[in-house]
Amino acid sequence: MLDTVKQLLKETANFEAKNLEEVEAFRIRILGSKGELKKLFAEFKNVAAEDKKEYGALLNQLKNEAQAKVDELKKSLQSKEKAAKFEDIDLSRPASYRSIGTRHPISITKSQIIEIFSRIGFDVSEGPEIEDDWHNFTALNFPPEHPARDMQDTFFVEKDPDLALRTHTSSVQVRVMENNKPPIRTISPGRVYRNEAISARAHCFFHQVEGLYIDKNVSFADLKQTLLYFAREVFGEETKIRLRPSYFPFTEPSAEMDVSCSICSGKGCNVCKYTGYLEILGCGMVDPNVLENCGIDSEEYTGFAFGMGVERIAQLKYNINDLRLYSENDKAFLDQFKSAL
Ligand code: PHE
Repeated sequence: MLDTVKQLLKETANFEAKNLEEVEAFRIRILGSKGELKKLFAEFKNVAAEDKKEYGALLNQLKNEAQAKVDELKKSLQSKEKAAKFEDIDLSRPASYRSIGTRHPISITKSQIIEIFSRIGFDVSEGPEIEDDWHNFTALNFPPEHPARDMQDTFFVEKDPDLALRTHTSSVQVRVMENNKPPIRTISPGRVYRNEAISARAHCFFHQVEGLYIDKNVSFADLKQTLLYFAREVFGEETKIRLRPSYFPFTEPSAEMDVSCSICSGKGCNVCKYTGYLEILGCGMVDPNVLENCGIDSEEYTGFAFGMGVERIAQLKYNINDLRLYSENDKAFLDQFKSAL
């Protein structure tokens, strides 16, 4: 019996393993619940009394050494396996391609417009998309039942007819005028909603950037020069502008601005319908009634305002001919703007 234990001790000391399976087989054979040690402990009662002390000590020694051996071999084999995995890595292989998202053309264009106006001192103001009648219409000189309210088909909130999804960001300008003293120089970018059937040329929501400048002696000439600067920054140095008389309840006089067609340089093509010009925004001198509605003295101050659709500017910059593309999340469409980042 003593010899068996000594033999196993020797075996344990000399044991080597090539892999983890061999270590596990060894562990089961010696230390397992049906292993050699278990059997040898069971034999303890048959050992002669004078040998019991030595036998017991050797059994404990075997138990400890076998366990230590298993632990040591496991550790070294595991770290070898790890190292082998790293050796398999081909460091010269090109990295796998991870497609990152792109900025949306609306967001790119909006940022560009903001950047152009911030260079000449305009700050950015924002307001709520669910707006009350006062800020979207009444303060802006739309009298109740005035047909001008029909110019913009509105989504009203059913439970509260005083609330609607804003139809333009002029509502933000009302809030700015109510809460600030002139001089005011601000642009209001944001999403607006109109109740229109969705087609290539119309959508029920789009994005605007509206601008407002109020100070002493602001004139129509200031408006024209500001818009000329803007048009040249967006569409190029050679761009010409043209103002045509128009009507908005909140500006007097009012105008629409056209820019010379950047595709045919004003010669006439199917994009500008052979007119050489493209309409891009509405503008005018802020109506004195609007200033008074917002608590600004119209004897002391004058101002101009303008508003444009971001989709329209992006359409002309990138030649996008269907408004629906902006909100369809078509990856092939969006990927085209990677270089525009
Ligand atoms: N609010 C007008 C619109 O949504 C645009 C505009 C703004 C026109 C400011 C004139 C002055 O169509």
